[in-house]
Amino acid sequence: MSPKKSILTGDRPTGPLHLGHYVGSLANRVRLQEEYKTFILIADIQALTDNFDHPEILKENTLQVMLDYLAIGLDPERVTFVLQSLVPEIHELAVHYLNMVTLARAFRNPTVKAEIQEKRERNGGSSIFGADMDIPLGFLIYPIHQAADITAFDADLVPVGEDQLPMIEQTREIVRKINNLYGEGTLKEPEPMVGSFGRLPGTDGKAKMSKSLGNCIYLKDSAKEVETKVRGMFTDPKRIRADIPGTVEGNPVFIYHDAFNPNTEEIEDFKRRYREGKVGDVEVKKSLMRAINAFLEPMRERRARWEGRLDDVEALLMEHTARARQTSRAVLNRVRGAMGLKALK
Ligand code: TRP
Repeated sequence: MSPKKSILTGDRPTGPLHLGHYVGSLANRVRLQEEYKTFILIADIQALTDNFDHPEILKENTLQVMLDYLAIGLDPERVTFVLQSLVPEIHELAVHYLNMVTLARAFRNPTVKAEIQEKRERNGGSSIFGADMDIPLGFLIYPIHQAADITAFDADLVPVGEDQLPMIEQTREIVRKINNLYGEGTLKEPEPMVGSFGRLPGTDGKAKMSKSLGNCIYLKDSAKEVETKVRGMFTDPKRIRADIPGTVEGNPVFIYHDAFNPNTEEIEDFKRRYREGKVGDVEVKKSLMRAINAFLEPMRERRARWEGRLDDVEALLMEHTARARQTSRAVLNRVRGAMGLKALK
């Protein structure tokens, strides 16, 4: 039998994970953890590209993200958790990859472009860093660093949210360049995998759920928090009374029903009555609260088992990272060998 294929994916430890993460990437990770050799990376060095002035954020959030992982049912007997800052091989690989990417290509990454734009808007339209050319290099090259995350573990597959597709594309370009230059088979070319549901909007109806927009339902939210957030959700604004026909398409309340309520008959009935002006928002939202809480309940139970044992969680992460380095060291030495450099011990 051929050896198992590998997954590498991960998150920045800048805050708790939310339902958008779940739909985009976490669900695939949980589903595929048996079939694939799975590495889950906590990208603390990457998180610094946006938070270098507040490094304490990472420390606070690393174990919280680990709790999210354990809560969703990633099984520490199956997957390998990796703390990026303890894997120096990634950082050397990134240096080699920097030679493969022009400045023009780095600026052309659509996600990076959008992020620069977002930062500008938050800054009242003016350039964030004073002048256009004043973008920290670390920020500009984080996708190149991410190519190192992925290839350091010989990943075949990268389950990610839609916004990460440009990163995988850039990774594939780097892999092809390295293989052309230093020999086919030096690096493995990964494929992305996006959740089948597509992007989950925020509770405010904005296109995406995002911590900076304050429109998230977090995996760690209590039943009460879920109720409050769902009660306040954006729906069809034209519908000021329950007997006015409403729009279901693009309505976040119905999108969430489709994502989290397993009772499709109930959803169809709500949709029909909503379109006809025969159901109130309150009833539709009450049922959504129940569905989301039923979905989160098993996660709350698993989280409770680890929450009081943060020392064990940290030890687990350290042990897993040490094990993961066997792979990253082998990959780095393969690249070094292909380039004619001596192997690192
Ligand atoms: N950039 C990803 C995010 O912001 C996090 C990440 C870092 C990642 N390294 C990765 C995702 C490698 C997939 C593969 O969510």
